Amino acid sequence: MPNSLTIVGVQWGDEGKGKVTDLLAHDASLVVRYQGGANAGHTVVVEGRKVVLHQVPSGILNPEAFCVVGPAVVVDPDTLLDEMDTLDLAGINVSPDRLAISRQATVVLPYHKRLDTLREAARGAGRIGTTGRGIGPAYEDLFGRTGVRLADLCDADRLFARLDALLPERNAVLKFLGGESMDRNSIALPALALGARLKPFLRDTGEVVARHMAEGRNVLFESAQGTLLDVLHGTWPFVTSSLTVAPAAFALSGVGVPAHGGVLGITKAYTTRVGSGPFPTEDTGEYGEWLRQKGGEFGATTGRPRRCGHLDLPALRYALRVNGVTALALTKMDVLSGLSSVPVCTGWRFGDTVIDIATPDLFSAPGLQPILEDWPGWAAPLDGATDMADLPVEARGYVERLESTLGVPIQLVSTGSGRESTVVRSDPWA
Ligand code: IMP
Repeated sequence: MPNSLTIVGVQWGDEGKGKVTDLLAHDASLVVRYQGGANAGHTVVVEGRKVVLHQVPSGILNPEAFCVVGPAVVVDPDTLLDEMDTLDLAGINVSPDRLAISRQATVVLPYHKRLDTLREAARGAGRIGTTGRGIGPAYEDLFGRTGVRLADLCDADRLFARLDALLPERNAVLKFLGGESMDRNSIALPALALGARLKPFLRDTGEVVARHMAEGRNVLFESAQGTLLDVLHGTWPFVTSSLTVAPAAFALSGVGVPAHGGVLGITKAYTTRVGSGPFPTEDTGEYGEWLRQKGGEFGATTGRPRRCGHLDLPALRYALRVNGVTALALTKMDVLSGLSSVPVCTGWRFGDTVIDIATPDLFSAPGLQPILEDWPGWAAPLDGATDMADLPVEARGYVERLESTLGVPIQLVSTGSGRESTVVRSDPWA
């Protein structure tokens, strides 16, 4: 029985990780967000009420779970505090006895967002399509060993010294990109005020995670974005700037690899992507538009329309490999109702060669032709089904065929946005 479960998106993000985390947090004593920042938008619907979380772990909605924002998350203190206030107003307890934030987490500062936007503009047609939340520039500071950490927001002298050391260079780049430079105090003074509010939450979160694991309690690691957006293993350079893959969860959270850890890959029943970059099974025609409207495929963070297309088995097989996925959750099955057949990409053709597992460089290789097979569709809506027996026979067939083709059990099938609209075929914690 695993006492750690890592929830990882096996596509380009937006797979429904928020809903699955919220569901599984019910049996977790700890939920850890291990990477990313306010670029994520994890949507959770509880009793018809929609909550979009950007930085606070989706486990916060389970009153029994303790939540951690780990050291590899880049924290925008302003939006984090707004999110905490919104949760508070909704009656959800976000006090320090429910939430700990790593003292080591890198702070997203106003110049990061400015640099993000200016760099995107400078890239022109080659733009990545970032969320504009300053994620790339903040991670550059972390890995360039020059950034500001949350603990620095509680020590004015240290913050001033750090900003004095880094701002001249950042301002030169801002100027080079046609932007306005920033002065130390306009950044430091509001940041210190935010730091004072965050101080009670700041901890050595690695110690918290290690303790829960040593006590054999259930720990859920929640990732953001998706495998194909991973900075190393994704469709680089059209990726985010963090390691999103499941094995990173432990290193980034400051604990060793547990002996019995499950990895639950989350995939939609079709594929979406936001921003630029290769997407071999994209449908830019009527079918893609139908998926976008029916699936409400608009970004939870930016509101941008998501690109939509067919489920891509070679891409999924690659993602299963890099994450060490032990089981899958299939989301948004209800969106496919109403189709007489569902096109699924079963292989990639390059001339006479057929590939059934992707590699990162092949995503943008010339001559790639997705091989589409029509799997039987179903007419009846699935809304809210909680038992496989309630699904039309073709929908059941879709799940079973996918499971046997990929060789991984599909433990959860999501049939609607609410927590309760889920078929639990087997318990991922069991
Ligand atoms: P960044 O993370 O804002 O730098 O954006 C880099 C790429 O990742 C862009 O294509 C974004 O659209 C994409 N991205 C970042 N966060 C998410 C997410 O939570 N869901 C889906 N795509 C994302």
